[in-house]
Amino acid sequence: MIGDLRVSVTDRCNFRCRYCMPAEGMDWIPREEILSFEEIERLVRLLVDLGVTDVRLTGGEPLVRREFPTLVGRLAAIEGIEDLSLTTNGYFLAEQAAALVAAGIDRVNVSIDSLARARFFEITRRDALDRVLAGLDAIAAHPEVRPVKVNAVPMPGLDRADVLRFCDLARERGFQVRFIEFMPLDGDRAWRAEDVLTGAAVQALIEAVHPLRELPREPHATSRVFAFADGRGEIGFINPVSEPFCADCNRLRLTADGKLRTCLFSLHETDLRGPLRAGADDGELERIVREAVWRKELKHRIDEPGFRPPARTMSAIGG
Ligand code: GTP
Ligand code: 5AD
Ligand code: SF4
Repeated sequence: MIGDLRVSVTDRCNFRCRYCMPAEGMDWIPREEILSFEEIERLVRLLVDLGVTDVRLTGGEPLVRREFPTLVGRLAAIEGIEDLSLTTNGYFLAEQAAALVAAGIDRVNVSIDSLARARFFEITRRDALDRVLAGLDAIAAHPEVRPVKVNAVPMPGLDRADVLRFCDLARERGFQVRFIEFMPLDGDRAWRAEDVLTGAAVQALIEAVHPLRELPREPHATSRVFAFADGRGEIGFINPVSEPFCADCNRLRLTADGKLRTCLFSLHETDLRGPLRAGADDGELERIVREAVWRKELKHRIDEPGFRPPARTMSAIGG
């Protein structure tokens, strides 16, 4: 039932994207509460024994965690993982790409919200577009890491020229660019339904120039993927707000401080760090995990009156 695990390795980040973190004043999880590599490895092994085959490493920004490629190497050695992937803001990718590939990363998704320098700065609050693009090139230079995907959250003020630049990136370079609807998980708690640029709206902008053809949906996928009708390149839409894809969700999340979350929007989480550090054996941990999975939410309730966002915001949950 659960095939996909997202592991956040840190809640820290060197960016301050508006849809994720406040400009300043984040409360970081204290260091002693963060799982060690040994602890992460033990929990991932256990979850793989319970059926997980796909593991995605997230943050915060995973590459700010010290010795991160070492963790990748330890997880890549676990038998039963078929797909070991990473979601990153790309800032440290140029310097770490070779080590990550050598350690056994299978796939990398890079977040880039605009291809215009000033707008990138406005959204991420860091003037780092060139550096991130260099990171993207560095990972793309390794042909064994495919597909490389680019994630963009379209924020109010998105212009057509930017959308078309993303199309060029997809068409010229072969990256699968995906537009993600802004979800109410921002640190500023400023999300408003009116600010969500829907996948359909972005798609209409694209189709005015480039006709698209939808590809069959992969089971449990977050995105609807389209090929450009002329056969060059692919583009995707992750529409959690306008078209929830909860129905066949098979994802679990492990936070950097060892809590298991059965939904991005869970209001309840299950502590694994406590029992782990108290010496629980695998059987005991397995029972706790099974019980949490049994109660997995059927869907998120963003669209319902009285919706309450989780206390943790995106960077502390793990995108
Ligand atoms: P692929 O396996 O490459 O398709 O990656 P992915 O889309 O599963 O992962 P990625 O880290 O690139 O996430 C893209 C976006 O989808 C992020 O904004 C995630 O927060 C969002 N996302 C991932 N899983 C879920 C989910 O279960 N529910 C919702 N609402 N959003 C999700
Ligand atoms: N809504 C949608 N996507 C978000 N991400 C971070 N915060 C939000 C949000 N509030 C995205 C990042 C990254 C992925 C892990 O999650 O852009 O691509
Ligand atoms: Fe950092 Fe990712 Fe959040 Fe941006 S979305 S602030 S890169 S954790």
